[in-house]
Amino acid sequence: MNQSKTIFSGVKPSGDLTIGNYIGAISQWPEMQDKYRCIFSIVDYHAITVKYQPEELRKRILEITKIYLASGIDPKKSIIFQQSAVPEHTELAWILGCSGSYIADLKKMTQFKDKAGEKQNSVFVGLFTYPVLMAADILLYDTQAVPVGDDQKQHVELTRDIAKRFNNKYGPSFVVPEAIVRKEGARIMSLTEPIKKMSKSASNSNSYISLLDDIEVAKKKIMKAVTDSGTNIDYDSADRPALANLLTIYAQLGNRQIPRLVKDYQGKGYGEFKKDLAEIVAKFLTDFQNKFNNISNKEAQAVLESGRQQASALAQMKMEKIRKVIGVR
Ligand code: TYM
Repeated sequence: MNQSKTIFSGVKPSGDLTIGNYIGAISQWPEMQDKYRCIFSIVDYHAITVKYQPEELRKRILEITKIYLASGIDPKKSIIFQQSAVPEHTELAWILGCSGSYIADLKKMTQFKDKAGEKQNSVFVGLFTYPVLMAADILLYDTQAVPVGDDQKQHVELTRDIAKRFNNKYGPSFVVPEAIVRKEGARIMSLTEPIKKMSKSASNSNSYISLLDDIEVAKKKIMKAVTDSGTNIDYDSADRPALANLLTIYAQLGNRQIPRLVKDYQGKGYGEFKKDLAEIVAKFLTDFQNKFNNISNKEAQAVLESGRQQASALAQMKMEKIRKVIGVR
């Protein structure tokens, strides 16, 4: 493990994790474990910024832990922990909210605008300040790189600004991190409305494939996925976004190159392409779910406890310094 570079990323336990979350973010993580110090969090305090059921949240925290493990994250190599179990995250979020985070910047966040919609003044403050908590997650561990999907790039940019402002005011305190975003697959789109990103909180479950979907249901979702006009298989993300998205999913889950797929499907129609893609998705999900189902709740809980101890040790050390720097110690 190379201690000189730290990677941090996380997923919030709200909704069913989709192949979008997997392709865009989680699938990048396992190969980083042998090179860097990796910290992966189940960022549960981010999940309470919108309506949720406590029972469901409790269940999803363990579910995401198992999803990390089934994806190949090895607790012997990486720290896997629950954000709320390390209270320094919320402590640092408060401090960053008072030094480095401007209201004007938070108002620009696309995710806030999308989620709050017309109700910007009547949603809870947590939805608005959520990116500051995300900045705290990242900065607490002197993170250099944050592997995320395209939609989180803006939050990492904001984290950089917050870190720089804090450093300017108090002297060098935080590492300024950068986002790592895939060239292909960083934004998997909805299967029903391919101009929107695939989202675990979407109301139409046909728009996404959950990592834990029943295999036959998942295959049907692929067969029902909207396609663009035209009949040939070609990659054109501007004019044929639906097909481009399906090609991306095929390439990522089937371990293939898009130009090669386009070549292989010359002269074949959408029907055949989708049938094959449904099989690729089915195979991926079957393998994934076999691994997932073999992990017990007890095992997942033990992983979280060990991760908590490791993350806490790092977070406590960092916060001792930060408390001194800002003058409360
Ligand atoms: P979240 O939980 O919404 O998503 C988890 C990860 O999945 C990526 N993702 C996608 N990638 C490709 N295509 C999609 N359709 C798609 N949908 C989601 C996201 O970009 C993300 O990487 N705020 C974060 C969680 C977070 C975090 C952090 C991440 C909190 N603190 C610190 C990194 C570092 C979020 O809500 O992600």
